[in-house]
Amino acid sequence: MTDLIGSALLHRFRVEEFLGKGGMAGVYKVRDEQRAAFLAMKVLHADLAEDKIFLRRFRREAQTLAKLQHPNIVRFYSLELSDDLVFLLLDFVDGITLRKEISRAKGPFSLKRVLEIMQPVCSALHYAHQSGIVHCDIKPANIMIHKNGTVLVSDFGIARMAESATSTMVGVGTPAYMAPELARGESPIPQTDIYALGIVLFEMLTGGDRPFIGESAKTTGSTSEKIRWEQIYLQPPSPRKLNPSISLELEAVVLKCLNKKPEERYLSATEFMNAIRATVSDNGSSVSVAVVPLAPHPVAPSTPLIRTASSNTASVSRPSVKPVSLTSRSTKRNALKTYVITFVVISLLLLCACGITCSLFFAPKSFWCIFPFWPAGICP
Ligand SMILES: Nc1ncnc2c1ncn2[C@@H]1O[C@H](COP(=O)(O)OP(=O)(O)O)[C@@H](O)[C@H]1O
Ligand SMILES: [Mg+2]
Repeated sequence: MTDLIGSALLHRFRVEEFLGKGGMAGVYKVRDEQRAAFLAMKVLHADLAEDKIFLRRFRREAQTLAKLQHPNIVRFYSLELSDDLVFLLLDFVDGITLRKEISRAKGPFSLKRVLEIMQPVCSALHYAHQSGIVHCDIKPANIMIHKNGTVLVSDFGIARMAESATSTMVGVGTPAYMAPELARGESPIPQTDIYALGIVLFEMLTGGDRPFIGESAKTTGSTSEKIRWEQIYLQPPSPRKLNPSISLELEAVVLKCLNKKPEERYLSATEFMNAIRATVSDNGSSVSVAVVPLAPHPVAPSTPLIRTASSNTASVSRPSVKPVSLTSRSTKRNALKTYVITFVVISLLLLCACGITCSLFFAPKSFWCIFPFWPAGICP
């Protein structure tokens, strides 16, 4: 990975430093001699670089990605070919990934920090969704924090390109953040990103825990296949169980993002952000509003297939549980409880009123005369 260092690709991009390795590429810091600026260069792994269908599609879409310009998006410039190398050029971010910040924090983020991260990420997502682009691989490793504090979302739409790859090494997205519809092989929509960002929020609030890690899957296969299975069939654990200081309201926001049905999640990243903000006061503490807590439950499968990186038809076993709509069920149960209590209280009051009235009419005069308040002459 270091053999490129020192070379000048296309007589223009001088490779300075190896930055890291991801699922699709090795990343280097390069100096663009023409523009006198640093860029990040992603050198695609050989099987992607040799995949003609992938390259054709990427070339077609590269111009759309290059048009995405937002203060919280790492700018994508172009796809380049040099000898047998295929590489992407993006803005170089001098900083760290959110992945690193989460692991360094060794505990839950403060609500203030959560807002500082979520606000720009939601803003970037909203802008991209409005432009018709779904990220498809939202995860802490694709959220970068510049050393001046700016939060930037990286790799917009890039994972989506890999969907067309005929190579076996890639699948779209990362299983731990993969919405059920994506895990089933359906097309991504904006709510697919909202689901993934919900998992990122879960992680920040719990100090690095993720709802699905493949340990509860009732299927065999790789960890990645097990996590996909869980994304499709299991309800997430309660984030409050992992961090009791999370308010019920904020937990409800997280769990709404993680709804199995995309239409039950927030309609937009802005709506998601507004919901988070409504649970946090200006000084960064939780705001309390009465909400119905959502308890985690298993749900039934809607489709039995998980598409995997190596196969389109990997089968999984069905869990023997019935579908439950968590929100409507618990809401109905609470409403019923209120009706019953109100009915009992009103019945008791009516019974008392009836008793008093009856005794006024039917009790013998001698009974009333035991009370001392009657005017003289009424009682013997
Ligand atoms: N634009 C960038 N600027 C600086 N460093 C980057 C940039 N993009 C990626 N990196 C670094 O390279 C690593 C690998 O990135 P990437 O190939 O996107 O993999 P992944 O997103 O799967 O972790 C990242 O963890 C990060 O440290
Ligand atoms: Mg990345």
